[in-house]
Amino acid sequence: MEEVLVVSKDPSVRRITAEEVWAKLKSAQDVPTLPKVANKVVRMAVDPNVSLREVARVVESDPALAFKILKVVNSAFYGFSREIGSISLAVSILGTREVILLTLGVSVFSAFPPVPGKPSFDREAFWRHSIGCGAIARALEERFRKGGYDELFSGGLLHDIGKVLLDQYFHFEFLEALDISWRERIPMEEAELKVFGTTHEEVGGWLAERWQLPEGLVACIRYHHRPFEAPPEYREEVGFVHIADILTKASGVGLGGDNVGFSLMHDAVWKKFAEDLGEVDIERLTFEMEDEIEKAEAFMELSKDTSKEENC
Ligand SMILES: [Fe+2]
Ligand SMILES: [Fe+2]
Repeated sequence: MEEVLVVSKDPSVRRITAEEVWAKLKSAQDVPTLPKVANKVVRMAVDPNVSLREVARVVESDPALAFKILKVVNSAFYGFSREIGSISLAVSILGTREVILLTLGVSVFSAFPPVPGKPSFDREAFWRHSIGCGAIARALEERFRKGGYDELFSGGLLHDIGKVLLDQYFHFEFLEALDISWRERIPMEEAELKVFGTTHEEVGGWLAERWQLPEGLVACIRYHHRPFEAPPEYREEVGFVHIADILTKASGVGLGGDNVGFSLMHDAVWKKFAEDLGEVDIERLTFEMEDEIEKAEAFMELSKDTSKEENC
């Protein structure tokens, strides 16, 4: 760690220690919370026995959230020819997974609205990257039918959430990390280590635990750059998020904040993944993901509208 900290030659670099990061985060009174309903729904996402009725009942218990979800359901994104007037109907038409996805997406956008006037990290591009990653992670799982992991969309959506916290609580230092990543062409997590002595993976994992998210989801956030270090039972699903992260960056969807070339070909997790699956045509796979990315873009626009309203 010491070695990493002395690499940058710029004496003006602002640095703080990991201890300072944790002390500030743990004592902060205003760390965003997920609405109770979103928490319950995320838990339902990993319960194979959950019924349509249960999901509808929980979402309906938060009328403001239910209203936003219905607004998205009735938008051109889904293109239904008739009005969907209730969450129960939405759940029966779209299915539990889709409604869970919408609930989590709308909730996270409300918890971390764009910060106007801050010349910083482009949060819109960031969310586009996150949603793209979630959509691709889910599509990969469907395409390869591995373990039936229901939290892959949420894992992709939230994988970089630690960056938002770092930006929110350590704004200038986070800008410094972004700058180092771009100047030195190194991944953000390496630049963060130089500036903070910790990374967005750790900070995001801490927030996920605080939100009491399911363990698999916490693992997707905490280990997405190093799936081999994840607890063995979650390693495969973390691997899906890791691969989706690279595919999203390689497709140029949104921006995760860093400035390095991204290629699946040389990625150790991908090599292991491809070994298990046999030959996989990466170009074709990227092409197949385009639909998912388009869908993600549309969802981004809708969610942005709902979070703007929230701020009015
Ligand atoms: Fe990341
Ligand atoms: Fe990412």
